[in-house]
Amino acid sequence: MSVQNNRKPDFSIHDQFINRWSPRAFLDKEISEELLYSTLEAARWAPSSMNSQPWRFIIARTKEDRERFHSFILDGNRTWCEQAPVLILLISEKAAGAHTFDTGTAFGFLTLQALENGLATHPMGGFDKEKAREVLGIPNEYELHAVVALGYQGDKTTLTPTLQDREAPSPRRPLKESIFEGTFSIE
Ligand SMILES: Cc1cc2nc3c(=O)[nH]c(=O)nc-3n(C[C@H](O)[C@H](O)[C@H](O)COP(=O)(O)O)c2cc1C
Repeated sequence: MSVQNNRKPDFSIHDQFINRWSPRAFLDKEISEELLYSTLEAARWAPSSMNSQPWRFIIARTKEDRERFHSFILDGNRTWCEQAPVLILLISEKAAGAHTFDTGTAFGFLTLQALENGLATHPMGGFDKEKAREVLGIPNEYELHAVVALGYQGDKTTLTPTLQDREAPSPRRPLKESIFEGTFSIE
């Protein structure tokens, strides 16, 4: 994975922020226990409100566990994410005040450590949350956020023609459009 032309930062930053993107093609290759747990370890060190660490990670890497995940992932995602050797569902304890913010941060850490470990990630909100709750036995005290496909990046020719066209790092709007100095205003 290398820095792409349409991903030129406006200001100098670490390459990892540019090199991380969400491909859909994964190699049919297992991830070692060491690399999987290293990836999750990074998420452990995310900051959280009052250090509540509200995140939980449900991992699926055996054929049986992955097929259980596939049963609640929407077709548009399932077609490509079946290739991924690991799927991780991120959930959080609702009782913790900033649980959604904190779990998003944990995902950010996880995804950058995955890149450092030579792995690709693709988060998905396109899954049936109620079905997932039922199938995995997740109580109402927890909110379901995203399923993350994790694995070695594969060749895009393994994807359908439509997905092959989309298999590229995306650009971003200019930084200045996200920043407001002093007060907020809508242009
Ligand atoms: C919470 C969340 C939900 C997402 N859901 C999906 C999804 O269901 N299917 C999909 O293909 N990509 C999904 N994505 C990936 C985004 O489309 C992607 O991160 C975004 O377009 C930026 O591209 P990049 O990650 O390659 O930089 C999701 C990303 C996030 C953070």
